[in-house]
Amino acid sequence: MQPTGVFISFEGIDGAGKSSHIQALSEAFRQQGREVVQTREPGGTALAEKLRDIVLHDAMDPLCEALLVFAARRDHLLQVIEPALAKGQVVLCDRFTDATFAYQGGGRGFDTRVLAQLETWVQARPDKSIRQPDITLWFSLDPHIAAQRLATARVPDRFESQPLVFFEQVHNAYADRVKADPERFAIIAADATIDKVRQSVWQALAQRGYLPTNAL
Ligand SMILES: Nc1ncnc2c1ncn2[C@@H]1O[C@H](COP(=O)(O)OP(=O)(O)O)[C@@H](O)[C@H]1O
Ligand SMILES: [Mg+2]
Repeated sequence: MQPTGVFISFEGIDGAGKSSHIQALSEAFRQQGREVVQTREPGGTALAEKLRDIVLHDAMDPLCEALLVFAARRDHLLQVIEPALAKGQVVLCDRFTDATFAYQGGGRGFDTRVLAQLETWVQARPDKSIRQPDITLWFSLDPHIAAQRLATARVPDRFESQPLVFFEQVHNAYADRVKADPERFAIIAADATIDKVRQSVWQALAQRGYLPTNAL
């Protein structure tokens, strides 16, 4: 029998540690005999990656930014995420709509009612339900610590180069998203060693029955 598809998103401010865990998790799911699609937003298709490049490097007003991010998301959902879930695969997505509420809403101060409207259009499914991740791992980290991690790690893009206050707003907007839909989120305390964080991630997925409990 074909397994049920699982949609897992990874959220948190830049430097919180999301990317450090996605590859290992892909392998863990494959060892369980699952097919895995590892992807990211904005991006994940040829068109969406072009839009990502524009969003990360060109100056624009917040509505343009929101529209481009949601346009990329629509293409990604139709071309990659929905087909993978329909085939019973595990989708590991580095950022999804919570990031739009956090960065464009919290960070840029853009009207979250507009974002909510775009969310219902872009994530609408043929049966009229709204596609959301089955579980979202929120890597919660003090922006000061994230900034220290990034200072030596990589050349900052248009978001990563924002001041600390921006990331405090992003962090708070993530916390608001968790409050609005607590069951979907697992909060990962990201201020710990990579190994400890890995254990928390595994535990969150095992608790919901997506991975076995014995391999911690
Ligand atoms: N738990 C951790 N403790 C210390 N450094 C970490 C931890 N997790 C990730 N890092 C480092 O912090 C930087 C940002 O991690 P990354 O996974 O790229 O974060 P994100 O994808 O959330 O922006 C990388 O240099 C990474 O090696
Ligand atoms: Mg990353």
